[in-house]
Amino acid sequence: MEIDNLLVTGGCGFIGSNFIRHLLSRPDFGGRIINVDSLTYAGNPENLSGVAGARPGSYIFRNADICDTAAMRAIFAQYGIDAVCHFAAESHVDRSILRPGSFIQTNIVGTFNLLEAARERGSGFRLFHHISTDEVYGSLGPAGAFTEETPYRPNSPYSASKASSDHLVRAYHETYGLPTTLSNCSNNYGPYQFPEKLIPLVCINALEGKPLPVYGDGRNVRDWLYVTDHCEAIRQIMARGRRGETYNVGGQAEMENIALVEMICDLVDEFVPPPGGGSRRGLITFVKDRPGHDRRYAIDFAKLRGELGWSPAESFASGLRKTVRWYIDNRAWCERVRSGEYRSWIREQYGE
Ligand code: NAD
Ligand code: DAU
Repeated sequence: MEIDNLLVTGGCGFIGSNFIRHLLSRPDFGGRIINVDSLTYAGNPENLSGVAGARPGSYIFRNADICDTAAMRAIFAQYGIDAVCHFAAESHVDRSILRPGSFIQTNIVGTFNLLEAARERGSGFRLFHHISTDEVYGSLGPAGAFTEETPYRPNSPYSASKASSDHLVRAYHETYGLPTTLSNCSNNYGPYQFPEKLIPLVCINALEGKPLPVYGDGRNVRDWLYVTDHCEAIRQIMARGRRGETYNVGGQAEMENIALVEMICDLVDEFVPPPGGGSRRGLITFVKDRPGHDRRYAIDFAKLRGELGWSPAESFASGLRKTVRWYIDNRAWCERVRSGEYRSWIREQYGE
């Protein structure tokens, strides 16, 4: 697909920054990226250091809030936005349980604002791609997987706000004919993930000899996808996906949380042997469960594989190895993102 001016929202976050790097590394992308991010606690411009210089003229950053209607209109007009890839969101389930308000604002009202700004562009507008999550489908029992036909049953304020934004995207396609695509993806992992999420949190705590908090009995199952595989799926859906359609994206890597935490402990032990010997598995601490904690997620991505030929390139074993190594090698990055706000969150959530 020919895109001249692509608005990427939330490009300073985990997946957004990986997506911008991924797209700009491809010689077949000839457009310009306008990254709009309001730099919440999860947004970090350092995630994109070096990007502007690598392809001069191809990357612009604007510090703006997607809930600011006037700012969004102005940006669409100023840069002649002809496509949107919408990542910006409040994304952490535990935060949504404690303080849901910002999730309603950013995830629902912010998405509505962008859809309106896109609609006002008229026939020159080519595509609104909305990034969503498998959590909209709710929780699975021990068997089966989510398909695009699975009914929505969100269980947290986060997933309910994402479900709501998905419905708005669908409605703008059906009602106004806005060209849209939507992807619902499973848990991502890789470089630049904010260390409140399970994998980076466990890597960093393990290195520092701190407790590794596992919710409930640790038997909840997530399906893990390496972040650049997600980025490539998004690129292909934007280029060739059918307009008005939804595509599930998954990693074919289901894992119980406790098994995952043990794997991370073993990798950290291998790369940085514990000073006093022993195993970091000894740091694992079972803590109070997350309220409404979804038991199991699994994704059936047969539609994406069948129509576009996408499947994950990275195996879970090699992806996790690279990821743990990245957090070990980038301690300075971890230190810098662990601001005062991060420390007060950790105290509130884990009572440390
Ligand atoms: P993240 O929390 O790391 O990044 C979110 C980014 O959005 C940050 O840079 C933040 O500053 C920005 N942002 C937040 N509110 C904003 C606002 N009002 N205006 C402008 N910018 C704002 O999130 P992530 O993990 O990179 O997730 C990106 C998207 O992918 C989200 O929509 C999320 O729901 C979805 N998703 C995430 C995963 C996952 O495993 N992380 C899986 C499936 C789907
Ligand atoms: O499934 C996609 C979703 O994956 C995305 O939509 C979300 O934005 C993303 O944050 C992620 O949500 P999860 O809640 O699955 O991710 P998190 O890393 O917070 O937790 C993963 C699992 O680990 C979950 O079962 C809860 C558990 N957990 C998490 C933390 C932070 C623990 O046991 N201990 C912890 O300290």
